[in-house]
Amino acid sequence: MTRVIAALYRVLYDGVLGRLPEPRAIAFGQAVLRALPFDRVPIFRRDDPRLETVLGGVRLPNPIILAAQYYDTAILERAMGLGFGAVTTKSITTNPRPGHPEPNLVRVRTAAGPGLVNCNGFQNPGLEQIRPRLAALRHRVPLIVSVAGETVEDYLTLVTSLAPLGDLVEVNVSSPNTRLVYEWSSKPRELRDVLERLGHASPRPLIVKLSPDFAEVNEREIIPAALEAGVRIVNYGNTRRIDEPRLSQRTGGLSGPEIFPATLENLRNTRKRFGPSLQLIATGGVDTPDKVETLLREGATAVSYFTGFITRGPILARQILDVLVAARAQK
Ligand SMILES: Cc1cc2nc3c(=O)[nH]c(=O)nc-3n(C[C@H](O)[C@H](O)[C@H](O)COP(=O)(O)O)c2cc1C
Repeated sequence: MTRVIAALYRVLYDGVLGRLPEPRAIAFGQAVLRALPFDRVPIFRRDDPRLETVLGGVRLPNPIILAAQYYDTAILERAMGLGFGAVTTKSITTNPRPGHPEPNLVRVRTAAGPGLVNCNGFQNPGLEQIRPRLAALRHRVPLIVSVAGETVEDYLTLVTSLAPLGDLVEVNVSSPNTRLVYEWSSKPRELRDVLERLGHASPRPLIVKLSPDFAEVNEREIIPAALEAGVRIVNYGNTRRIDEPRLSQRTGGLSGPEIFPATLENLRNTRKRFGPSLQLIATGGVDTPDKVETLLREGATAVSYFTGFITRGPILARQILDVLVAARAQK
């Protein structure tokens, strides 16, 4: 049955969603997600105690996480019933942000499969508006609150205010679409200060989300700084910055299977260099159960994806969980 749903979704994606202009495809997809109670249909999830994963001391029913992109709590609530072991919010900023003008997301067909390039620019209603909405959200699975700032004060305000509403907090210092957030990777000393202060301020475990564009500096300076600051979870990582003349900013973040080899390499190198001193969320290009199995085997604590949710549909999580359960049953 899951195979049939996956095949039908492919027809829908290739025939309709993939052909509509991107803004209409996004509006259509999100309207369907809000309107139809997919989360009440058991086929989209699978509970099995063998899949339980502990991340930063928080128990996840399984190691599959929806990566940061949605702030709408109707969609986050829906996603919590779609097989994910945890769900991440879009990165919230202190003030409302309209995001970059359209076109701010385009599809790409790479040799590895369908992907996206976005220059969303953190379109979100800002801290004050999002807080009551998150406070009203029921956590069917753990919620990871993602935050993005340009100064240490931004991060402190965001974490103090939003951390109590989530189960974990993800500190995004890596989105390539706003200069000041992306620049954190070139200021490791300041970043260490940010992480240290957040470590004291946050009542929830912290995750630092890194950019695949700074592998060397991540390994040499940023991860050691995070560890010294007491951060024990690294999400590796965000989109890869590329030129894309169709976007309003002429540049954006590439996501989808083209970046999977870098995700795997960064995971392997980080695990080798830092051993069990940290927990790793591997993100970037995951769109099949095989890729998840590979990442977990290579030392990922959990695996997250966003583009695969769009290109392969909401059934992908269940397909992954089936493969993981089958593999664990053989052990
Ligand atoms: C439209 C769009 C918006 C995104 N917004 C955020 C964000 O707000 N914060 C963040 O940390 N990552 C954001 N991401 C990055 C994803 O969370 C993820 O790290 C990246 O897309 C790579 O994973 P994937 O190949 O599975 O999509 C966004 C990605 C896309 C495509």
